[in-house]
Amino acid sequence: MKIYLIGYMGSGKSTIGKLLSDQLKLDFIDLDKYIEHETGKSITEIFAQNGEAGFRVMEHDYLKKVVTKDNMVVSLGGGTPCFHNNIDLINKNGTSVYLDVDLDVLTKRLSKEKNDRPLIKNLNDTELKSFIERNLEKRETIYKQASIIIKVKTLDKDELVEKIKRKITI
Ligand code: S3P
Repeated sequence: MKIYLIGYMGSGKSTIGKLLSDQLKLDFIDLDKYIEHETGKSITEIFAQNGEAGFRVMEHDYLKKVVTKDNMVVSLGGGTPCFHNNIDLINKNGTSVYLDVDLDVLTKRLSKEKNDRPLIKNLNDTELKSFIERNLEKRETIYKQASIIIKVKTLDKDELVEKIKRKITI
């Protein structure tokens, strides 16, 4: 079984992915962490040295490695499905789950967690909200190609994990 969590930055992919993998007794991979481990560089450093385009090439290459593994939950980066036809690669190699979180919730979370995220780290709160709104609109058609879409209405992590488990075993 291979499960990929997709969704915007701040949607909870890493936290929920880890909890889900523990409960399903599967391995857990966070694609950003995997890239950082393999390259010995932070995502911020990669963006600074190679630009976003360079990062997207690396992200695609490491995703190709990750999809060859089995029995795992993978939390992807917010942009991963949206470049280099990665959504097709993901959907051909497992079950994708889109964590669909409201703009206001994302904005609130990301205003506190933007420093390690090169795309948003220099934005003030007003700029942040309009960036997320525009960017999310562009990305949503891709996110919605996920096998399972979870409208995240709860802040309760365990409840959310249960909901995902119910959907993937249907
Ligand atoms: C990005 C999301 C980040 C990381 C990079 C770019 C994006 O991952 O891959 O900063 O384009 O949305 P998270 O979604 O885990 O923050």
